[in-house]
Amino acid sequence: MEIRVSGLTKIFGDGPSAVTAIQDADLALERGAFVSLLGPSGCGKTTLLRIVAGLEPPTRGTVEIRGAPVWTAAGRSTSATRPVSMMFQEARLFPWFSVVENVALPLRIAGLGRTERTERARDICETVGLGEFLHHRPGALSGGMKQRASLARALVTDPQLLLLDEPFGALDAMTRDTLNLELMEVCAGANVTTILVTHSISEAAFLSDRVVVLAPRPARITATVEIPFMRPRNLDLQQSMDFQSMVGQLRRTLSEGE
Ligand SMILES: Nc1ncnc2c1ncn2[C@@H]1O[C@H](COP(=O)(O)OP(=O)(O)O)[C@@H](O)[C@H]1O
Ligand SMILES: [Mg+2]
Repeated sequence: MEIRVSGLTKIFGDGPSAVTAIQDADLALERGAFVSLLGPSGCGKTTLLRIVAGLEPPTRGTVEIRGAPVWTAAGRSTSATRPVSMMFQEARLFPWFSVVENVALPLRIAGLGRTERTERARDICETVGLGEFLHHRPGALSGGMKQRASLARALVTDPQLLLLDEPFGALDAMTRDTLNLELMEVCAGANVTTILVTHSISEAAFLSDRVVVLAPRPARITATVEIPFMRPRNLDLQQSMDFQSMVGQLRRTLSEGE
C-alpha cells in the first residue's frame, strides 16, 4: 500500500472541553489512486490530512507512507513524508516573489542550483497553464491563477503523494471545473497518489476512484464508495444519468451519517 492509516484518532484539548476531531479512521490507498474525503465542515478532514502530511501528531493510531511510519515515538519522520506535497485552500504564495520563483521555492529549499530549479519550475508552470505569467507577482493574478501557481509548487518536487485540502473551494464554479479537469490530467500523467478533501459531492464523484464519507459528532468515516466511471473523464460525464445517480447515492450516504 502507498498509504495506510490505521485506527487514527485525534483529540484536541482535554477534560470537558476536549474535541474529538477524528475517531478511529482507517484508510488504504494503492499507488496512483485518487481518493476524496467528503464531509461537512468540522468533521475532521483537514485534521486527517495534516496528520498524514506530518504537520499534526495523532493522539492514537498510525500512518504509513510506503511502509514507513510518519509518526514514531520520537516524533515526525521526515524521511516518510519526503515524497508528500500538500496544497491548501489559500494559495500561500510569497507576494514579493514572482510566480516562477514561488514555484521554484521547494527546490531552492532542497538545495538545487538556480538554473536547474528555474528550468524545472518553468516546465511545471507551462503544464498548469501559467506559461505567460512566469514573471508576474502573485498580487497581479486572479484566484484561479494563484491556485495554479500553488498546484505547480506542489508538483515541482515530483511528489508521489499529493494532499489537497479544498484546493479550489474558494473559486467560482467555472474556474473550478476547468482546474479540476486539469488536476485530473496532471495527476494521471504524474502517476501520483492523491487525497482530496472536499465538501462538494459532485467534485468528489467526478475526480475520484473512491470517496470516503465522513460524518461529524463524533467525527468518523461512515462509508467508502467506489466510483466506477471510466477514465479519461470529461465534463460531459456530469450530465449523464449514471453520474446524477452517483451524486444522489453520495448525498444519501452523507445524510445517513448525520
Ligand atoms: N488546533 C486545533 N485546536 C482545537 N480544535 C481544533 C484544532 N483544529 C481543529 N479543531 C477542531 O477539530 C474539528 C475538526 O476540524 P477540521 O479538521 O478543521 O474539520 P474540517 O476540515 O472537516 O472542516 C473541529 O471541531 C475543529 O474545531
Ligand atoms: Mg478543513
